[in-house]
Amino acid sequence: MSENNHFIAAAIDGPAGAGKSTIARIAAKELGFIYIDTGAMYRSIGLACLKSNIDVNDAEAVKSILPQTEISIVFKDGEQHILLNGKDVSDEIRTEKVSMSASSVSAIPAVRSFLLELQRSFAKENNVIMDGRDIGTVVLPDAQVKIFLTASPESRARRRTDQLAEKGIEADYKAVLEDIIKRDYNDTHRETAPLKAADDAVLVDTTELTLEQSIAAISQIIKEKL
Ligand code: DC
Repeated sequence: MSENNHFIAAAIDGPAGAGKSTIARIAAKELGFIYIDTGAMYRSIGLACLKSNIDVNDAEAVKSILPQTEISIVFKDGEQHILLNGKDVSDEIRTEKVSMSASSVSAIPAVRSFLLELQRSFAKENNVIMDGRDIGTVVLPDAQVKIFLTASPESRARRRTDQLAEKGIEADYKAVLEDIIKRDYNDTHRETAPLKAADDAVLVDTTELTLEQSIAAISQIIKEKL
């Protein structure tokens, strides 16, 4: 985007549980950038559907609630909080049920275009690290830094289970692994903006890396590109 010239954008894409959000959040703090988690936006729409008893696979029904659905982002102590119709749902969107709903609604083109301008608006006014599935390919195709972060499904399921446990949410490893495999399939096979690495993205596989090593690898790539 030509109007995005003064600001620096780093796009981090990859499958569920590759560590994108944890790594991006810490790297953004180090660099003094804002961090935008676009998955939280799809999760909020998934949650809105669950609350209104909307079938997330019924594109027309999902589309019909978008005009009454207001998604906004606020920052508290530098952390992103997401508001759904004015209510902070940052914690409520982290369940496996909401994950699956988010994956379904994210395949609907009307949902993707509904969120696109909101996502782009942050890169117009800030230096950002934005994570998602299509940031380097669709949302910010001119991002100066593009990273595709991945890891084996098993290590991603293990990390996700541990993360949920830390938040006091009990989750079964096998069920989480199944969900991850299902979501990978949905996210890579949908017609609109499927999960894939941009041609100019740097690939990082974190299967064998600790969190600290992953952060160091990402920060290094961003610093080299800047
Ligand atoms: O990153 P996450 O697990 O919070 O994302 C939840 C779902 O949202 C995921 O299954 C795919 C979808 N998503 C997307 O389609 N595009 C994005 N930029 C971010 C997330």
